[in-house]
Amino acid sequence: MRAAPIDLRSDTVTKPDDEMRRAMVNAEVGDDVFGEDPTVNRLEAEAARVSGQEAALFVPSGTMGNEIALNVLASPGTEVICEAQSHVFHYELGAMARLSGLMPRPVAGVRGVPTAAQVEAAIAPDVVYRARTGVVTLENTAMSAGGLVGRPEPQREVAEVCRRHGLPLHLDGGRVFNAAAALGVEVSELTSFVDSVMFSLSKGLGAPAGSMLCGSGEFIAEARRVRKLFGGGMRQVGILAAAGLIALERGAAGLLPDHAQAKRLAEALAEMPGLTIDPVAVETNIVVAGVEGDGDPASALVERLAASDVLAVTLDRNRIRFVTHRDVSSEAMGEAIDRIRAVVR
Ligand SMILES: Cc1ncc(COP(=O)(O)O)c(C=O)c1O
Repeated sequence: MRAAPIDLRSDTVTKPDDEMRRAMVNAEVGDDVFGEDPTVNRLEAEAARVSGQEAALFVPSGTMGNEIALNVLASPGTEVICEAQSHVFHYELGAMARLSGLMPRPVAGVRGVPTAAQVEAAIAPDVVYRARTGVVTLENTAMSAGGLVGRPEPQREVAEVCRRHGLPLHLDGGRVFNAAAALGVEVSELTSFVDSVMFSLSKGLGAPAGSMLCGSGEFIAEARRVRKLFGGGMRQVGILAAAGLIALERGAAGLLPDHAQAKRLAEALAEMPGLTIDPVAVETNIVVAGVEGDGDPASALVERLAASDVLAVTLDRNRIRFVTHRDVSSEAMGEAIDRIRAVVR
């Protein structure tokens, strides 16, 4: 019999469990474009509370949440200061340019995050031939940097630079619950000082779909309009919000086992020939290993792993990414490590 694939491509592959499905079946619903879905309204209130922001909006995806934020916070023709490997720059199909007329100003940061000094240096001077800076973005955890955790202090320093220059700050907190879990702090410690934050319900938190965009009441009122503009106004979507409420109830602490699994995987990979990884640098649920060789060794390895029913993705030609999540048991992780070892050997 063929072994079941162990899916470590992303934490987005998690499937709603029985408790979530029951809540979805029983959800009270209404037309959310009219603001009449009681379950969505409860989820938005809860997301605002958890993030330490005034208000929140349920959006279909993290990408839409980020792109709504940029659209609301910056005017067309202005620049978006973002990290050089960030999701908004690399993995959103140039949406900031296509949907909002914005231009990225990428900065190679430290641990996947631009420092306050780097942000300050990247702000456009007030000269007639330069586009103005419109908004600054951060990402926590920093996905491409291997899920590294952004500490509150350096991020607050960036917020302070933004405040001094009258610039809004958006946080792509797709996995900010992982960051909070790793640091043992409340999510709001990482999110309350930004102008807007997006966090995903559909990654490690295990909901089938949806993200939350949080900010001031005024920001969210405008974001609601832009969500409609981008085609994200959904109707009886309390069915999804019910799953989101359970994801929030489980919260950051529920992610710690994923972090432990990631560490275990990283320690095993560090012993394997042809792979380079420092397990100390694995802080959350993302494990990025260097793959030695010429050409495109990362893709070749991903293909060979898939043939052994371990699914991973490449980040580039020499880097492979594994993501741990609630649907990979400790036993399955042991099996995945054995299969990877056999392939690499
Ligand atoms: C850091 C980060 N931000 C945003 C997103 C976008 O989320 P979605 O896939 O829901 O559009 C992702 C997706 O993987 C992500 O890793």
